[in-house]
Amino acid sequence: MRTLTGITPSGALHIGNYFGAMRPAIEAQTGGDCFYFIANYHSMTSVTDAAERRTHTLGVALDWLACGLDPKTSVFWRQSDVPEVTELTWLIGSLTPMGLLERAHSYKDKTAKGISPNFGLFAYPVLMAADILLFDTQRVPVGRDQRQHLEMTRDIAIKFNETYGETLVVPEAQIRDDVATIPGLDGQKMSKSYGNTIEIFGDEKAMRKKIMGIVMDSRTPAEPKPDADKNLAIQFLRLLAPAEVAADYETRLRAGGLGYGDLKKGLFEHYWNYFAAARARRAELAANLDHVESVLRDGAARARNVAAKVLARARQASGLE
Ligand code: ADP
Ligand code: TRP
Repeated sequence: MRTLTGITPSGALHIGNYFGAMRPAIEAQTGGDCFYFIANYHSMTSVTDAAERRTHTLGVALDWLACGLDPKTSVFWRQSDVPEVTELTWLIGSLTPMGLLERAHSYKDKTAKGISPNFGLFAYPVLMAADILLFDTQRVPVGRDQRQHLEMTRDIAIKFNETYGETLVVPEAQIRDDVATIPGLDGQKMSKSYGNTIEIFGDEKAMRKKIMGIVMDSRTPAEPKPDADKNLAIQFLRLLAPAEVAADYETRLRAGGLGYGDLKKGLFEHYWNYFAAARARRAELAANLDHVESVLRDGAARARNVAAKVLARARQASGLE
């Protein structure tokens, strides 16, 4: 089973990225045949500062490796090191109906917010489809926000196969219900673009301040809270603390007697400990950037091998060769 996923380097990665995409991807490594990449071409629709793109790209590389991506088992690369993907984008883009792209949430949401769309933003689902189809991918672990893009990818692959004969593998999304949409500090979906994130590797003082600053209601500590399961800190504890610890916090909050300050303190401690080992690994990696660069280059060479074969098939099928 070939698994593939990508993350856009448009800001520091957060626990929504971690639980929605990275952890399932890392767990899939036990079955082998995993392809993971840093989607730096995708970042071009939102980031226009070259230095910023480089910084985020390196940050995502460090985050993935620190969190357990094993470059010996998995193929790990920077998207732009395999430029074949842009050629496949053209081949499949020429078969993609405008109407399909006009219905994309990613495009509709951004234009609704007043962002004036460029060609890249409009064409983004086609590039994403090419990312997936270029590697004969079968399974794509993502958060729920990407479901529509996966459906579009399937439609595009089917259309290509109907037009030019069986060429591309039709992939499936892997969306885990329990972590499909991690809420942000404001209760909306956690996202780099909403400024409501808990970073995986934030600075200790800043993160403590962020977590202690989560806004709750004005009920006194003594008051019972029948809606304890909806409490944001409880929802985060369910991800970051052992199940029985999270359940205990929830019971105490429900019964009354547990103050929000103590609850948030507990949350911070569990958050900080959850990523402690990964944080130490990240610091080691950051002190050895030549190694990180060689991991990415080696990954690109392996990815390119597969990409070249699939692209050759698509060129042949469509009469370019
Ligand atoms: P962001 O919205 O922060 O820019 P990306 O679009 O780069 O995040 O998402 C990278 C991966 O992380 C995707 O698979 C996406 O579905 C997943 N993801 C992002 N935010 C969340 C969230 N709040 N809950 C679950 N998964 C998420
Ligand atoms: N579009 C995805 C996101 O914003 C990132 C991404 C790009 C991706 N190409 C991909 C995810 C291919 C899975 C497969 O989250």
